[in-house]
Amino acid sequence: MNLPHDKFCILPWISLEASPIGTVRPCCLADDEILDNNGNKFELSTANFVDIQISDHMRDLRIKFLAGNRPETCRKCWNEEDAGRKSKRMHTLDRLKHSVKDEPWTTDAKPLMFLDLKLGNICNLKCRICGSWSSSQFATEELNFMPRAEQKSSHAYQMLRAGAWPRKNAQFWSQIDTVLTDIRYIEFTGGEPFMIAEHFAMLQGIVDRGIAHQVEIHYNTNGTQYPEKAIEIWRHFKTVEIAFSIDDLDQRFEYQRTNAVWTEVCDNLERFRQLRTQYPNIQLQCCSTVNVFNVRYIDQLAWWISEQNFNFVYWNIMHDAWYFSIATLPDAAKTAITHHLRFNAAPACYQQDINGVIDFMNGGASTDGSVLRSNIAELDRKRNQDLKKVAPELADILGYEN
Ligand SMILES: C[S@@+](CC[C@H](N)C(=O)[O-])C[C@H]1O[C@@H](n2cnc3c(N)ncnc32)[C@H](O)[C@@H]1O
Ligand code: SF4
Repeated sequence: MNLPHDKFCILPWISLEASPIGTVRPCCLADDEILDNNGNKFELSTANFVDIQISDHMRDLRIKFLAGNRPETCRKCWNEEDAGRKSKRMHTLDRLKHSVKDEPWTTDAKPLMFLDLKLGNICNLKCRICGSWSSSQFATEELNFMPRAEQKSSHAYQMLRAGAWPRKNAQFWSQIDTVLTDIRYIEFTGGEPFMIAEHFAMLQGIVDRGIAHQVEIHYNTNGTQYPEKAIEIWRHFKTVEIAFSIDDLDQRFEYQRTNAVWTEVCDNLERFRQLRTQYPNIQLQCCSTVNVFNVRYIDQLAWWISEQNFNFVYWNIMHDAWYFSIATLPDAAKTAITHHLRFNAAPACYQQDINGVIDFMNGGASTDGSVLRSNIAELDRKRNQDLKKVAPELADILGYEN
């Protein structure tokens, strides 16, 4: 594939990302949401992908790349590359370079090949590190603890309305079917994707066209669902990667992922493992998001993961909300956690990842932990939970009294 220059990114031509609240970006790392020609954010509760691709906003971005610029909205990729790491821009080129037709790059969009679909915020859990932006349960809880008079003007209310976009815009599902001819890779990573039944009809449309064998799909799931009927659809795809979001074990898992039942998630994982033996196109991953709640225990988590036979394990570092980021833990907590992780070896295959976690934690600007403690206490009160009971070592390290 010929590219105009070595800082060129193909994503503004062939990709779109839908956020859980239905706004759209060229990819999940771009800073700016795409605006229509009146300067308003496109919203998938009304807009369609074709109009978004041909918007002036997207055309301007393509012009910048054609001119050899490094657009500001893509700064996360430039930062990665300047630090000597492989960026999403580079990963995407590797993944799709054999699939993009070798035709001139103009200011016009090309057929969509890569979709990152966060299908609203419909979710059965309210994980502590998540929020109303991705969880309808979280938004509902916030509303329930608010005076009635404030509800309608609240952020949670807006999120609840905006996050229902996949259910509001039935046309989205029929029109998307018409732009999928060249699709190669689809990610479903927002809300709880297995609860959005509409997306299975979209996948069936790809199967019916006879092109599923060239399409890879990726899910992030909370593991509470086993979509029995999906198997008949999934078996036609090139690969189906299912990433289980498992950040901790047993009661700590249930504490962090309120409404989830650990044994049910383990049972579902086992059912997926069985499925993988029948359908080799299915790949199972573990996505563990490292945050203040689990960092003290990731050695235990790593041992558990090593026994689960995942095809791939991703240690995801959490950045927002800042007070749940391990980088902002108090100095005394960082020292205690570092000591624990240095003296409790993890499986050798994950030791380097854990060393990276320790370095990240200790490299950040510490706080006194007061905002963290008050956030934990507020949710403990609302949910009738107690950090001291489920994670006494962590509560002790944080000086958490409640
Ligand atoms: C928002 S969830 C949506 C998909 C699905 N419900 C799940 O939990 O996997 C996607 C991933 O983001 C992670 N996540 C949740 N809150 C996060 C945060 N504040 N920062 C970074 N990742 C987060 C989750 O653990 C999960 O792996
Ligand atoms: S399961 Fe996923 S979307 Fe739902 S609350 Fe947890 S992290 Fe957020």
